[in-house]
Amino acid sequence: MRIVVTRRVPEAALVELRALGEVVVSDADRPLTQEELQEAVAGASAIVSMLHDRIDGAVADAAGPQLRVVANVAVGYDNIDVPALVERGVVVTNTPDVLTDATADLTFGLLLALTRRIAEGDRLLRARKPWSFHLGFMLGSGLQGKTLGIIGPGQIGKAVARRAEAFGMRVVYSGRSQPKEDLLRVADVVSLHCPLTPETRHLIDAKALSAMKHTAFLINTTRGPVVDESALADALLANEIAGAGLDVFEREPEVEPRLLELNNVVLTPHLGSATVETRTEMALLAARNVAAVLNGGEPVNPVHR
Ligand code: DGY
Repeated sequence: MRIVVTRRVPEAALVELRALGEVVVSDADRPLTQEELQEAVAGASAIVSMLHDRIDGAVADAAGPQLRVVANVAVGYDNIDVPALVERGVVVTNTPDVLTDATADLTFGLLLALTRRIAEGDRLLRARKPWSFHLGFMLGSGLQGKTLGIIGPGQIGKAVARRAEAFGMRVVYSGRSQPKEDLLRVADVVSLHCPLTPETRHLIDAKALSAMKHTAFLINTTRGPVVDESALADALLANEIAGAGLDVFEREPEVEPRLLELNNVVLTPHLGSATVETRTEMALLAARNVAAVLNGGEPVNPVHR
């Protein structure tokens, strides 16, 4: 059986996959183009995909009728046309839970870097600008007693809430049943943890941003298109909100150029799950999903029933 892995993954996962069949790993140090992807998957029984791969019916057809599983090495699977794959009898899996703490840690890292101006201070020193301590120098915002608004109260949202409570914050949620507008009005920090779906695309648009407090911060560690990035740049330039911490972008790897110029924006390149431990667990989980399906069993993490 042929197993196609679209980007390098930790060796431990390859060891598990090699026990199942012939493993082909893309050696391109970049995402494959759609044409390359279709070529690479020909004859595959399993595809181990990354969040930057668009896996649709055409890719499944290019693989052939023997394709049985697509194991996405990510918790999000907005890159996969699940109905098209299910229609072709292909199982789709993801890697939940193992990245919850890493992503919550990074979310909090962005929050602190932003509210305490850590990245800005680092830039100031590296620019060798003159400075001296005084009581009004580079003041940030404290977190104690402030309100964190979590949009998308799943595993990661709850893990962020636990961290916030340890910092003395009050936490409010908005999900399917609680209105987002109420949260936007009261939150000092809004943190996004909902998956990207047609309903959540541009959930944070110009109107939502104008509903936030002028002193509030926005953090996005879920998927870029949940925020209208151009509207965010407008809102920051108009001082409608106090700052933003972004790990994900609407057109990754591109970043809205105006955001790059702003001191009250902290940016990281999609590092939410990027620890050695977590990325290894994610790849191993994907390999276990492949093994379960190819061995005729139930997948560990199907994204559909
Ligand atoms: C995911 O898993 O969906 C993250 O965005 C990448 O780790």
